[in-house]
Amino acid sequence: MRLKGKVVLITGSTRGIGKEFAMGFAKEGADVIINGRNLEKAKAVAKEIESLGVKTMTIGADVSISKDVTRMVEEAAHSFGRIDILVNNAGVNPFILEAEKIKEEGWDQVLDVNLKGVFLCCQAVGKKMIQQGGGRIINISSAAGILGEQGFLPYCVSKAGVMILSRILAYEWSRYNILVNAIAPGFVAGGMNAPILNKEILVSGLTQQVPLKRLGKPEEIVKIALFLASEESSYINGTTIVADGGMTGYHPVGFLELIAEMMKKKSQNP
Ligand SMILES: NC(=O)c1ccc[n+]([C@@H]2O[C@H](COP(=O)([O-])OP(=O)(O)OC[C@H]3O[C@@H](n4cnc5c(N)ncnc54)[C@H](OP(=O)(O)O)[C@@H]3O)[C@@H](O)[C@H]2O)c1
Repeated sequence: MRLKGKVVLITGSTRGIGKEFAMGFAKEGADVIINGRNLEKAKAVAKEIESLGVKTMTIGADVSISKDVTRMVEEAAHSFGRIDILVNNAGVNPFILEAEKIKEEGWDQVLDVNLKGVFLCCQAVGKKMIQQGGGRIINISSAAGILGEQGFLPYCVSKAGVMILSRILAYEWSRYNILVNAIAPGFVAGGMNAPILNKEILVSGLTQQVPLKRLGKPEEIVKIALFLASEESSYINGTTIVADGGMTGYHPVGFLELIAEMMKKKSQNP
């Protein structure tokens, strides 16, 4: 019950990792505001969470639309009196396309939700946190924003943007006792990856990229968010915690063998 009495707003918490965040924060005693564009799904999540004995609220809002975000934050602050923690989890990754084939609408769709949406929510909640004397903001980025992945240009750019946005907000808002950090998960077995989890060839292709040779579990990402929201992380600010099983910067085995082979040849030819 590390977060008893705290109020957390989690964007995109109607399903996937966001729903897991909602459950995880409720188990730690926090009152949870559940958001998504689909209000019915938000209500279903709220019903599950209420059995844990915490208060909930559901707000249908599109994080990429500033008037929706303003309404969401006003309604949440009005009902609970404060917002202690913001988890910017809402995100989309709707297509795989080579750069030359991406349309302007596609670019906008991804950047509007994944980067502008994070900014709008940070700004609206940040203003409340400034008034109330502090808070914690946790932005969900991705290892894709560090490594870069072919076919996912807008997604990777948006997630790279989330990391630097978090850092700059931490610089600016430390004076208000607002700590801002990001989490960059690798491949997680859930959420937007759910449709491929029964496709053996794809899953094994992904796990080959990971030194731990498995996908991440949603609860492994939730634990990091709980840590960043708790007093245990009181000196962590402006950083990104990467949870990717060691994937970032890892060269799969074939690559290392190639390097070893090259080095062998080189050492024979001084
Ligand atoms: N799954 C992974 O392997 C992985 C890895 C790295 C990072 N991430 C990041 O983790 C976050 C959650 O991903 P996930 O895999 O759980 O995805 P998901 O299952 O597709 O869930 C996305 C959530 O975001 C909401 N959402 C989408 N657009 C929205 C909008 N415009 N306004 C408000 N809510 C919106 C969706 O609800 P509605 O449809 O009801 O709006 C849903 O609740 C994302 O930021 C994603 O980029 C995921």
